[in-house]
Amino acid sequence: MSTATTSPPSLPQPSDYSPVIAGRHGGKSALVTGGARGIGAGIVEWLAAEGADVTFTYASAAAEADALVGRITSNGGTARGIAADSSDREQIREVIDQVVARAGHLDVVVSNAGGGTMRPVAELSDGEVDRMIDVNIRGTLDTVRFSLPHLRRGGRVITIGSVSAHHFPNDVTSLYGLTKGAVASLVRGMSRELGPRGVTINNVQPGPVDTPANPADGPVGELLRASISVGRFGTVEEVASLVSYLASDQGAYINGASFDIDGGYSA
Ligand SMILES: NC(=O)c1ccc[n+]([C@@H]2O[C@H](COP(=O)([O-])OP(=O)(O)OC[C@H]3O[C@@H](n4cnc5c(N)ncnc54)[C@H](OP(=O)(O)O)[C@@H]3O)[C@@H](O)[C@H]2O)c1
Repeated sequence: MSTATTSPPSLPQPSDYSPVIAGRHGGKSALVTGGARGIGAGIVEWLAAEGADVTFTYASAAAEADALVGRITSNGGTARGIAADSSDREQIREVIDQVVARAGHLDVVVSNAGGGTMRPVAELSDGEVDRMIDVNIRGTLDTVRFSLPHLRRGGRVITIGSVSAHHFPNDVTSLYGLTKGAVASLVRGMSRELGPRGVTINNVQPGPVDTPANPADGPVGELLRASISVGRFGTVEEVASLVSYLASDQGAYINGASFDIDGGYSA
């Protein structure tokens, strides 16, 4: 396979954009769950580069959170990380209270924290089942519903689901797919609640994306790559730029939608 098909394209970074685009989230208050590493960190960095004041949560990666805040601050952006587990209802409430105490409102909410154990259902422990449901489903639902009273007109809610919601190429993603399918259903349903309030909700469904949870050079990297028609994993920047578009004024007519971003993996 040639390098041309396996290397990510040279992507424009937020700093390469014109001032108009670079400032399109100026004055907005954003919350991203699970933002210290991986896709979430890419979203935090991209929204901050386009002018948003970003608060993000993480489970335990305090050093990565500090490094991310340092990078953003040194580029002239504003961000802060708060340790809060998305499976803990009170911790989510507390984070949202802190954002609202600081900014007075919310404009962009990205529910990204999630993940799971990839094994056949028959082999999952009770703890693994509970954890995946608690973080991926209940954590997303709580993040969205506690944010609702604080979202202004023009507000945007974006969930990070997965193509695993509808694509089952092996026997290890049934429960993970169930949780991400639930997220897609929540988004479709809630678009009916939010649209009349001038707020949209959409779901971004990545395929294999190179992150600490799913490294392109990890144990299943080669296997996954063989099924991705563009011949490579996605990058966090590619997912973040789609999220940023959905969060922008340009995305105002998109509501209740799920977008696969998977290089043709689930085609
Ligand atoms: N990478 C992929 O191929 C892929 C594909 C489809 C969908 N996704 C989805 O994309 C999202 C991000 O995945 P990723 O690959 O970027 O994962 P990752 O590399 O493991 O990063 C996840 C981030 O979320 C945080 N986090 C995890 N559980 C949390 C919890 N309970 N409460 C608060 N924060 C939590 C982590 O914090 P700590 O570092 O402190 O643990 C970390 O900052 C997930 O929803 C995942 O299901 C990923």
